Amino acid sequence: MKRISTGIPKFDTELEGGYPEGKGILISGNTGSGKTVLGLHLVYRACMDNKNCLYIATEETPEDILVQAGSLGMDLRQFYDDGKLVIQRIYEERVYEAISSVEWGTDRPLSSDIIKLKDIITGINDIVIIDNIGVFTLTMPLDVFRAQFDALNHMLSKQGLTTVYIMDETSNRRTDYVAAYSVYGVIKLSRKENPYTNKHERYLEVAKMRNTQIPEEPIMLKIAPEKGIVFLSD
Ligand SMILES: Nc1ncnc2c1ncn2[C@@H]1O[C@H](COP(=O)(O)OP(=O)(O)O)[C@@H](O)[C@H]1O
Ligand SMILES: [Mg+2]
Repeated sequence: MKRISTGIPKFDTELEGGYPEGKGILISGNTGSGKTVLGLHLVYRACMDNKNCLYIATEETPEDILVQAGSLGMDLRQFYDDGKLVIQRIYEERVYEAISSVEWGTDRPLSSDIIKLKDIITGINDIVIIDNIGVFTLTMPLDVFRAQFDALNHMLSKQGLTTVYIMDETSNRRTDYVAAYSVYGVIKLSRKENPYTNKHERYLEVAKMRNTQIPEEPIMLKIAPEKGIVFLSD
């Protein structure tokens, strides 16, 4: 099976070369656990390899993303300027629709249907990152979310797109972790205090990756200026 580099050489080694190409991967974790940073590594490496990427952002502006990447040593601006990287922001639309749903008291799926994401994913042949898919769970019942997420993932895989769905832990929990079922791989990030040292530690755990022998243990990492995610194991 062909692999797409994660952008982190040690992670590629742990995953038989990288993410399975053309499949959907879910990255979940609490706020600040490094989900966006992990996504940026994939995007940066893919752009360097002359692939084209679409970054769908619900929480950050394109400028936020470029600055964040730059501070971690990933100069995405060049790729953004020449169009290899497209950053599409869908935040305003969600807020507008959330407001109208409150005003009109509707609980039907809104026009920010997750499935409609496919309409903005056109002309992209390689990589799509959706950061954060959790916002869609606010506007639809669980069964609708599951059906739409399955359908979207199925469609994007059929098109051969390697897709990373980033989902905050709160949304993941609220939706009973159903997103994990339909994707090819699931990665969990966490940042927690070590009770013995009182220091915060970061971990990456591969919960599932079809067709791949996954690391048995969580991998300890840090996020370093100019470098991004660095695995601490040797
Ligand atoms: N330039 C940097 N140098 C060191 N750490 C950074 C830098 N930029 C971000 N970080 C770390 O990454 C964290 C943000 O990670 P992020 O991927 O945005 O989290 P998430 O998307 O899971 O909410 C910050 O809280 C900080 O700890
Ligand atoms: Mg984020």
